[in-house]
Amino acid sequence: MNLPILDAIEYQPAESRPGSLNNSRSVYIETYGCQMNVADSELVASILNDSGYQITSTAEDADIILLNTCAVREHAEERVIGRVSQLNGLRAHRPNLTLGILGCMAQHLSKTLPDRAPFVDLITGPDAYRRLPEILAQSSQDALLDVRLDRSENYIGVNPVRNTGTNAWVTIIRGCDKFCTFCIVPYVRGRERSIAAEEIVHQVHHIASEGFKEVTLLGQTVNSYRTDDTDFADLLRQVSAVNGIERVRFTSPYPVDFTDRVIAAMAEITEVCPSLHLPVQSGSNAQLEMMQRGYTIEAYRDLVSKLRAAIPDLVLTTDIITGFCGETDDDFRQTCELMEEVRYDSAFMFKYSEREGTYAHKKISDDVPEELKGQRLQEIIKLQENISHQLNRRWINQTVEVLVEGPSRRPATDGSPRYYGRTRQGKTAIFTQQVQTNEIVEIHVENTTSHTLLGNLVTH
Ligand code: SAH
Ligand code: F3S
Repeated sequence: MNLPILDAIEYQPAESRPGSLNNSRSVYIETYGCQMNVADSELVASILNDSGYQITSTAEDADIILLNTCAVREHAEERVIGRVSQLNGLRAHRPNLTLGILGCMAQHLSKTLPDRAPFVDLITGPDAYRRLPEILAQSSQDALLDVRLDRSENYIGVNPVRNTGTNAWVTIIRGCDKFCTFCIVPYVRGRERSIAAEEIVHQVHHIASEGFKEVTLLGQTVNSYRTDDTDFADLLRQVSAVNGIERVRFTSPYPVDFTDRVIAAMAEITEVCPSLHLPVQSGSNAQLEMMQRGYTIEAYRDLVSKLRAAIPDLVLTTDIITGFCGETDDDFRQTCELMEEVRYDSAFMFKYSEREGTYAHKKISDDVPEELKGQRLQEIIKLQENISHQLNRRWINQTVEVLVEGPSRRPATDGSPRYYGRTRQGKTAIFTQQVQTNEIVEIHVENTTSHTLLGNLVTH
């Protein structure tokens, strides 16, 4: 499955667990950014629920509103500032409303946020969520700040209140040690640490008992996972062996840390889905060097060849940045050539956004004009759209296995309801026959767009 950079999503609790304390305050959580944040919001919900807070799915009737935020690009931060100012308007009717900013942006902007958004009551970084009940119980005129990074915080023992849906997220490694020169993540999420395999397998058993058939293992560099006696290949085997789990995914792997053992495990284990998000960032060695990604484009290509040889039906997706420091026309052309050669099924494409505190911000000049960054971005978006469209057509007339996620937001042109789910390759399939959520069915593909497969239920 891809690694969508999500628009804001609200936390939809499967059920509110009865709190151990009698606390009638309700909490609404809105999540921005990557899946790690979605998983962290589930931890926050659990921690607050266990302290007696009720989790609600609308901002309007909440006593406490928490925005779990992303700092990867400036645009993401600006959106949150806009949203939090808008939510501040609710105070006209709810003077006791508590507004908080959690996550990467809270960590990144801890010094300037109190001035930029003085009405925010609390600012809490990704390693401080266990202290949230304590922080919420305090009262202060000034914003309450807790952005201590803690290399030992793995949230062991916190059992996430999972979002409703068909896929359960399981964080297996926190933080990042790679320090790509453009990236803020290592500074806001702290040092890399792997969670004990027993804890992960225990969680997956619990997930299976709740009825989930699919898990996605999460980490900023998920395949760097290692404890004293377990590597990522071992972990894939242990998780896939849990009864009831039919699909295992992981995101995002770091190209350098992809071992032959992991490729073999992916090829052998039927539960591990043939889809892989493998961020490349650029097709030019000069750019990869400037980004300190740790690989050459030749090594990346070799990895793709090995993966495709071992897993013939593998669907690949990626992340690409345009306009990073010093990117020449020739560097950019090499990125386009790589895209044409690898033919990703889809890609998340971004304009470089300089982040204060990173190596690139301190040492390399952000010298590609904004307009050129934008033009290059549009060019690769168009290129990718064409490739996605062509690649999707190969599914026409094939029968695919789909895990049903529910009613589609977009009905058919005649207004009749449609349903959707995901194939093992992570493609979205849309069909008209009603099937219960979480069922696995076969869909015969009749048509495609660049984003979806359209088909009909196969009945035997
Ligand atoms: N390793 C993480 C990456 C987190 S950031 C993961 O895949 O889980 C997600 C993507 O955002 C990166 O792969 C990169 O393509 C993009 N990105 C990161 N920092 C950026 C920046 N400063 N400007 C533009 N894009 C950036
Ligand atoms: Fe960022 Fe590179 Fe880590 S993109 S999350 S520093 S692998």
